[in-house]
Amino acid sequence: MNATLSVDAVVFDAYGTLFDIHAPTANAAAAIGDPAMADTLGKMWRDKQLQYSWLRAVMGAYTPFWQITQDALDYCLEALKLDDPKLRQSLLDLYFRIDAYPDAIPALQALKTGRMRTAVLTNGSREMVDAAITSSGAAGYLDDALSVADVGIFKPDNRVYQHAVDRLGVAKERMGFVSCNGWDAWAAADFGFQVVWLNRFDLPEEKLPGAPKRIIPDMTTLPAVYGL
Ligand code: LAC
Repeated sequence: MNATLSVDAVVFDAYGTLFDIHAPTANAAAAIGDPAMADTLGKMWRDKQLQYSWLRAVMGAYTPFWQITQDALDYCLEALKLDDPKLRQSLLDLYFRIDAYPDAIPALQALKTGRMRTAVLTNGSREMVDAAITSSGAAGYLDDALSVADVGIFKPDNRVYQHAVDRLGVAKERMGFVSCNGWDAWAAADFGFQVVWLNRFDLPEEKLPGAPKRIIPDMTTLPAVYGL
């Protein structure tokens, strides 16, 4: 049995961790064509979105994540020959008011019941993360929502993790961090957070500097990991 992680706050990645990044395409499967194509588009959209965030970081060409999300969708719709302005708009609307994963709200609720401080730290732009927190029902269980928009660079740049330290006033050694993204989990651990990798998508461990303290398949055991 692993000892619990002792922290003063738990910070969550947003998209893929709290919010179901494949729900928009799954919900629009009929308009896309079929569930298999919806799945292909959902995965390609996510990959392209992340790729653009990192490429823009390397290029020194930051632009808000909501713009990147649209650019990535446009690339994918063209690549899959799904060009259709109505479909594009409905996918963007679904992404803007995204659903939470079924295990996310109960875990947040348990952390709040245990008087843990909670926050989001996301690459998402201010307006998209605020809309997502409201539409997903997470609003009552998060004390803060931090966006990289305040820093002008994307995770996994260390300045983003430092932003959480500065804004929450919690030392990095006392900061819990939860992400479904291996790259984010490894980088945050390398920075010095006490990281839980939420391996929702059953992926291999990253071969990067840093190592999460715990790996869990979903959020049901998360409160217990942090002693609640
Ligand atoms: C987030 C995405 C990248 O930062 O998962 O919310």
